[in-house]
Amino acid sequence: MLAEKIRHLAKAFETDGIEIRRHLHAHPELSYQEFKTSRFIQGKLTEYGIPHVIMADTGVVGIISGKNPESRIIALRADIDALPIAEQNDVPYRSMTEGVMHACGHDVHTTCLLGAARILQTLREDWEGTVKLIFQPGEERNPGGASIMIREGVLDNPKPQAIFGLHVNPQLEVGGVSFRSGKVMASADEFFIDVKGKGGHAAAPHWTTDTILVAAHLITSLQQIISRNNNPFSPSVLSICSIQGGYTTNVIPAEVKLMGTFRAMDEDWRFKAHDIIRRQCRAIAEAMGAEIALHIDVGYPCVYNHKQLHQVAWSLAGEYMGQEMVSETELRMGAEDFGYYSEKIPGCFFRLGTANAARGITSGVHTPLFDIDESAIAIGMGMMAWMGAKASLETS
Ligand code: NI
Repeated sequence: MLAEKIRHLAKAFETDGIEIRRHLHAHPELSYQEFKTSRFIQGKLTEYGIPHVIMADTGVVGIISGKNPESRIIALRADIDALPIAEQNDVPYRSMTEGVMHACGHDVHTTCLLGAARILQTLREDWEGTVKLIFQPGEERNPGGASIMIREGVLDNPKPQAIFGLHVNPQLEVGGVSFRSGKVMASADEFFIDVKGKGGHAAAPHWTTDTILVAAHLITSLQQIISRNNNPFSPSVLSICSIQGGYTTNVIPAEVKLMGTFRAMDEDWRFKAHDIIRRQCRAIAEAMGAEIALHIDVGYPCVYNHKQLHQVAWSLAGEYMGQEMVSETELRMGAEDFGYYSEKIPGCFFRLGTANAARGITSGVHTPLFDIDESAIAIGMGMMAWMGAKASLETS
């Protein structure tokens, strides 16, 4: 009954949703600079009659009360920032800001949450509890807008029992959604290594410290942390993605810089690995007579989907969309700052199918040709509203 009403409203608001998405898509803003986007969201919430406050400069938090507002409190989250990518799509709603693009679908996430807000507000006599709407900045850049919102109290007063977030998936055909229990995405930390030594003539290496050779040892040794120290049943990746040093054939450089990323699915292993990386750097520096400065920029934690909440969400999704439309999300070593919420309260991060292979809409996120099949919008709006209205951790 409620599902039917939500499906009906999602359809009724679909045209508006597409218009909103196209507006956001045409006006993307980089992480922590989402001022116009923030004002746009505030304007829409005001239009729908939903009270809201601003957090973390450009974040917006709205509250919708159903019947018995104290009985349950559910948070729904969308990220609102775009990426420094020049769009190559030739569409009427193409980015109007040179070099900035909604290439990760955050325009779609924002649209789906605005749509869900409008649906929940319209139907507030039909569901119980309170829904907290979280529009957060800066998902694409450290320290992650989620961490700032949490520090500013987004999960307090009232404290949600559970939180839902969705993400577009250009590998999943439109019409479908996918869920996964437990770990769904990895933690991501960046590391920066600066190898210094006495450079000099290439023909007299005994008068120098060969920073190139030190860097080579570091690369080999750090790779082995994954193969020799990590539990093979727990996915983890270390990639060195930049090596800079030297400029000619006959000079040993005084400095070589390395940069890379370290990802894990286990928070204990993650920090143990940081210690091993530090130890290797120290030992190699000592053994080879170089100086090594290491900086690890600690990024987002793993995204963990609460087991019971996952079960609830999976069966609710089946009820709303038909079980054949619900599938299991594959594991990813990508990262998401939703992990900060799911670290604090039960969370469920799910995927919204946005691909349409027949129409050639399959380009991945973070690419200049990323786009979606817009019929995903009504599904996303409806699913978020449905979770907001129905999901609960209390067994009924
Ligand atoms: Ni994203």
